[in-house]
Amino acid sequence: MPSASPTEPEPAEPYQPYQPSELESAEPTESTEPVEARPVASRLTESLLSAHERAASEIPRTPIRPRKVAFEWRRTPLHWIPDEPTATHVINVLHLLLPAGERWFVKVFKEALPLITDEALLKDVKGFMGQEATHSVQHSHVLDHLKDQGLDTTGYTRHVEWMFNVLLGERPLLPIPAGEWLRFRLALIAAIEHFTAVLGDWVLAAEELDRAGADEVMLDLLRWHGAEEVEHRSVAFDLYQHAAGPGPARYLRRAEAMAFAWPTLVYLWITGARYLMRHDPELRGGGYRLKEHRTAARKGLIPSWAELHLSMPRYLRRSYHPSQEGSLRRAVEYLATSPAARAAAGALAREAIS
Ligand SMILES: [Fe+2]
Ligand SMILES: [Fe+2]
Repeated sequence: MPSASPTEPEPAEPYQPYQPSELESAEPTESTEPVEARPVASRLTESLLSAHERAASEIPRTPIRPRKVAFEWRRTPLHWIPDEPTATHVINVLHLLLPAGERWFVKVFKEALPLITDEALLKDVKGFMGQEATHSVQHSHVLDHLKDQGLDTTGYTRHVEWMFNVLLGERPLLPIPAGEWLRFRLALIAAIEHFTAVLGDWVLAAEELDRAGADEVMLDLLRWHGAEEVEHRSVAFDLYQHAAGPGPARYLRRAEAMAFAWPTLVYLWITGARYLMRHDPELRGGGYRLKEHRTAARKGLIPSWAELHLSMPRYLRRSYHPSQEGSLRRAVEYLATSPAARAAAGALAREAIS
């Protein structure tokens, strides 16, 4: 948790676009568009894309914006990965955490809006807020569907809501100055967004889920969400860097927030999977076992702990920038083919011409 500081609140540091020279593998980029006309995330992403990604073909640059998706859950079975209840519920933990978690992101970002002095960053932040609000709503519909199938999750989600709304709410429980408390929560969101980008990239590439016959609607939800996580992966980090002020405290707070976020996420993931397995009406009390978790990971149905643990040192590098994570190309390609995203785009186009 953050330490109290006598100085607060501080004005935001003038926005400094991330310098590729700070990175180990950055290369210059080419573009015919004026740099300042493009969103911050796009500028950063472009400058940091790997040579391989850039060489393959141009990635369309679109502003970060919410897509008005909808999913029809009636046909999705409780065990949406057939005969794989552990893998199903390990992934279902996302539905337990994200409705409250992503609503909290939006609330914290609203508090931070007055600190943003860069127009392009402000635009990206508002797009991010729209995307996260949509994610939160769509995952909460899955919780309704689980309840319809006899798996009531409120016994778990009320603790998650307490954590985000009270423990991490606008008013700190400890005597921490308001400015420092906001900066810590922005650092926390940047840390969590590192994992959502890692998980998003993982699910976009997880072909084993298709081979296992996973429900197509659930896969589309997870991949649409994962793709948008990769699409906006830099925004929370850029906002934190912008608002955190100069000096070594900026990096220290970032590391401190990750030290808080990672064990908490592991704890929530394991306890969430336990809850779901215990309350699953089709398992009759069959519990969550680490051995089955590892087996599912070996099959490629869920990410392995090693993959997730190994992503942490990357975040702790001083030169880290989220645009180094995952494949923007894969995300953009998925969004172009996602049934839900395509339906949303079609509805938008019809609205525009009517
Ligand atoms: Fe999200
Ligand atoms: Fe996100």
